[in-house]
Parts: sequence; structure tokens; C-alpha cells
Amino acid sequence: MPRKYYRVDDFRLAAQQRMPRVIFDYVDGAAGFETSSHLNREVIEQVRLLPRVLVDIRQRELAKNFLGRTWGLPFGIAPMGMCNLAWPHTDKVFASAAVDHDIPVCLSTFGSSSIEDMGKRASGNGWFQLYVGPSVDDAMDLVQRAEDTGYEYLLLTVDVPVVSARPREQRQGFEAPFRMRPRQFVDFAVHPQWVFHTLVNGVPKPANVVSTGNKGNKLTFTRNEIRGHIDWQFLDQLRERWPGKLILKGVLSTDDAVRIRDAGVDAVYVSNHGGRQLDAAPAAIDMLPEIRQAVGADYPLIFDSGLRNGEGIIKALALGADFVMLGRPFLYASGADGQRGVFRLVDMLKNEMLLAMAQIGCTDVSHLDQNVLV
Ligand SMILES: Cc1cc2nc3c(=O)[nH]c(=O)nc-3n(C[C@H](O)[C@H](O)[C@H](O)COP(=O)(O)O)c2cc1C
Repeated sequence: MPRKYYRVDDFRLAAQQRMPRVIFDYVDGAAGFETSSHLNREVIEQVRLLPRVLVDIRQRELAKNFLGRTWGLPFGIAPMGMCNLAWPHTDKVFASAAVDHDIPVCLSTFGSSSIEDMGKRASGNGWFQLYVGPSVDDAMDLVQRAEDTGYEYLLLTVDVPVVSARPREQRQGFEAPFRMRPRQFVDFAVHPQWVFHTLVNGVPKPANVVSTGNKGNKLTFTRNEIRGHIDWQFLDQLRERWPGKLILKGVLSTDDAVRIRDAGVDAVYVSNHGGRQLDAAPAAIDMLPEIRQAVGADYPLIFDSGLRNGEGIIKALALGADFVMLGRPFLYASGADGQRGVFRLVDMLKNEMLLAMAQIGCTDVSHLDQNVLV
């Protein structure tokens, strides 16, 4: 019997049942007490939208102009490492959902698909997310591969100087690259469907930075190695090097945002990494209006962290984002129901946006601003 999914939490629950706990806790978990992860959601829920009446809302536009082109919807799929652990072929499914709905999908440096493979599948909808490990040269090799493959959008993530302690991962013995350990035997035994499909398709490995024996894949760095040696000079170097759109991900400070804008970066991506880095960090949504004010009305801003429905997306756009991303919801959807789940999630978010826009009398997503907030 196909399950019925009416909100993101339905996917989350189903994913929790289908995935081994070690994988679910990798996806769902966060840093420390998980306070900032919970806060992200709570603060977004507290934002209120103001219903308006007597507006002809028969036509409502969700397409959005952003960073040089029009996207089918104002949201995309955030970069996440090792997505295929959620369920086999998750990357492929994300790429086809991105092409189908004309939205961006970001391949992580720790993605389970190669830059080239994802580039082919997602074509103009694929963005590449860069982490810089101990070797800048190796990072520049990844940049070169992204350029050769035809990516036009490069996203440098800067909020992981070190990988934070995530107690749920630690408790379950989660390791990257992922290995099935004897201590997880019971966990796997009670999730036979995941184990069967994962073994049949091969346990996913990072496809770009860890040697898999394929030519061209070098051991550049592992997950827990330090990424915090890059500085503003590196940013200048990367800006000079990358001809396409450059986006900086993981910004919460207004001073940083202004400096990044002044360094010639095309967009700032406001995020607290879904609460996975500094547990004492503010809810990302709380910083969005200040950052908008600091960088000016026209400077491109992306937002993620804690969005779980269409109303949340509308709130983030009203609070100053031009575009938003969602992370975990896409992994829950894939873990819950594979391709059907991911396509259902996009439709759900889209319909939720259309419903909310009708209630607040907004006919074009590009018109959302502070006036729709209480
Ligand atoms: C399992 C998982 C892996 C992630 N891996 C990366 C990554 O490799 N690079 C990156 O920039 N962000 C990574 N993120 C952070 C997401 O891009 C995004 O900022 C976050 O998930 C947004 O919060 P949300 O999950 O509440 O939507 C990861 C998030 C999750 C849940």
C-alpha cells in the first residue's frame, strides 16, 4: 500500500522506519544538544503571515528570476554529503526532480556521485558545492572539473572550519566514508529493505574526494580533516579563478556578508548548516532581515535551515531571501519513498506555497516582502 504523505514530518517518520538508525541519525541529527536545529524550525513557525482579502488570485506565479536565469520554483535542493545513503540512487532522483521542475540541485564535495555524472544528469540545474580541505591545489582540481563539466554555479561552504561533534552520529558509530560495522548488526537486521537495496547497488562512497580506484578520483581529504585554513585571500583567489556565479554558503554575520559582497561574490547564502555546526548559533532566520538590510535591497541572498513547508518558504522570501534551499526534507522524502517521495515533496511544497499565496493575496512570488508579515 503506498503511504500517504501530507507534510514533511510524514516523510520523516517513514524514513525513520525504513532507514537504519545509524543513517537516520546522520541525516536527522545536529550538533550538541541540537538546540539550534530545533530553534530554526521554532522561530520560522513563530513568524506570522497576514491574510488579505478581495484579491483576484486565480493566477499565481512561482517562477523566480535569480542569478541570471529564471527558475521554475523559488527553492532548490541544498548540498548534502553522501545522499545515496538515504536510499540508493538518491542523487539521480534529485537530479531528475531538479530538471523536471527546473530547480537547482547542489552536489556536495562529499556527494556520492561524481561531478561529471551529476553534471550530465542535472545539466543546467546542477550547482557544485566546494569544501576546501588541507590542499588548496586539490580543491582547485575540483573547481577545474566543475568548470570542464559545464557547471555555472559554484558554492563555497565556509561554516565548517572543523566538523562539529554530532552526538547522535557518534553514538551510532557513524563513519565517513560509510562502513557497515558489526556493532550495527541489529540495526541492519531490523531494516532489511535498506540493507538489501544498498548491498545490491553497492554501499555509497564519496565519489569525488576519496579514492574509489577510478582514474581521476584522488584522496584529497577525509571528512574530519580541518577545512579552516582558508581566508579572505583565498576568497579573492577563487573569485579570480571561477568565471561563473560564485556563492558563499554558511553566513550569519552582517559584517561577513558585507565583506563577501564587496569581494565580488555573486550571492551570500545565509545558513547555520541546519544546526549541524555551532549549537549556540542563532536561528538562521533571525539573522536574515539584518543581513538583507546590511547588503542592500538588490544583492542576491539565499536562505536555508529549518524550512519544512511552503509557508516557511514564503516567510523566508518575505524576510529578505531571494531564493531558498531545503536539506533534510529531501533526504526524508527519498528515504521514505524514493523517486515517488521526492517528486511528491516538490509538489507538496509547491501546492503549499500556492495555497498560502492565495490566503495572503499575493499573485507573484517575486512580490513577497515585509508587507505580507504581521
Ligand atoms: C545529511 C546532511 C549532509 C550535509 N552535507 C553538507 C555538505 O556536504 N555541504 C554543505 O555545504 N552542507 C551540507 N549540509 C547542510 C545543508 O546544505 C543545509 O545547509 C541544511 O541541511 C539546511 O537545513 P535543513 O536540513 O533544516 O533544511 C548537510 C546537511 C545534511 C542534513
